Amino acid sequence: MTPAGEFEIFLMAPPGLEKELCEEARERGFRNPKQILGGVTVTGGWTEVWRANLELRGCGRVLARIGSFRAMHLAQLDKRARKFPWADVLRKDVPVHVEASCTRSRIYHSEAAAQRIGRAIAEEFGSPLDKNAGLVIKARIEDDLCTISIDTSGQSLHKRGHKEAIGKAPMRETLAALFLRRCGFNGAEPVVDPMCGSGTFVIEAAEIAAGLNPGRSRGFAFELLAGFDAGAWENMRSKAKPLVPGHAFFGSDRDAGAIRMAKDNAQRAGVAGLTVFRQQSVSDLQPPDGPPGLVIVNPPYGTRIGDRKPLHALHGALGQTLLGRFGGWRVGLITTEASLAKSTGLPLAPSGAPVLHGGLRVMLYQTGKLP
Ligand SMILES: C[S@@+](CC[C@H](N)C(=O)[O-])C[C@H]1O[C@@H](n2cnc3c(N)ncnc32)[C@H](O)[C@@H]1O
Repeated sequence: MTPAGEFEIFLMAPPGLEKELCEEARERGFRNPKQILGGVTVTGGWTEVWRANLELRGCGRVLARIGSFRAMHLAQLDKRARKFPWADVLRKDVPVHVEASCTRSRIYHSEAAAQRIGRAIAEEFGSPLDKNAGLVIKARIEDDLCTISIDTSGQSLHKRGHKEAIGKAPMRETLAALFLRRCGFNGAEPVVDPMCGSGTFVIEAAEIAAGLNPGRSRGFAFELLAGFDAGAWENMRSKAKPLVPGHAFFGSDRDAGAIRMAKDNAQRAGVAGLTVFRQQSVSDLQPPDGPPGLVIVNPPYGTRIGDRKPLHALHGALGQTLLGRFGGWRVGLITTEASLAKSTGLPLAPSGAPVLHGGLRVMLYQTGKLP
């Protein structure tokens, strides 16, 4: 049971990084964080829903689980969906779209279930239905229990609202933030990404160090809900206290276009003054002045861009450069191929659980401080 006005909030995580998102939610003061497959649940009310969307770097979407009822067959689903208190959350002038999934239930036809719920909303309450609506209601029917959730995020949260330009195989911001966390990064050390593409790791690291909220510049689906208080939201959004990091964050790439994109993205994110991007090949990489920190890198995998053979040579060159020049630094290497990681010659610990990303099984390999 949750206290009145509170409900379960589901924070979606990339499969394999639930633990890191759970840690982030706990650090941010969300109540009862529990790690489950594909995400984390916490409890709270609408304020926590807003805050999760605004603050959590690793979360892909925030679902508000606003109610549930038993439904053994479609006629019962229809009847109970008509009685559901839609007026508490929906507006008659805002179109909605309903999606459903069925597991271990007598109702097994998810499209029919979605259609019944949609029709109940349109006929009983009056919200128009539109499959391109900005507001999506998700009905999950499991063991004959239908749980109604609202996707309060809208566009996936990896879209921070700053990145117009993306490279060939960009890392999602949510994933980048959770990989940085798995590497123990908390903003207090410099970061170098020698194959930075559009600059995702470097920009995320700079934002973390600067205490910027990931959702500070974008809109959310919860703004379309009944009872949304624009003034209170503006208050929450503008409350963040930026920090002044003691060092910069560095990205390089051999591709001039990638460096242009990374600079533009950093500019839009408001961290241009904290980041340094340079066009250069990994073999020309030098550590920046100052204390050692974290090298995090996501070289080409081969399954997505380029051929496998030259990639072993590229990983070898990366490893040599880091072993030769980056004493005292830690390395986090993201790849789908254990053999490519091995080609670096770096003292890598076995990777943790693979992370599912775009149909690939991505691994993070880490070193301790290099000798
Ligand atoms: C998988 S992408 C990195 C994507 C990046 N993490 C992002 O979020 O956009 C790999 C990058 O390695 C760069 N690259 C390939 N060979 C390189 C080399 N020898 N030196 C430097 N960069 C290289 C490519 O130009 C590409 O941008």
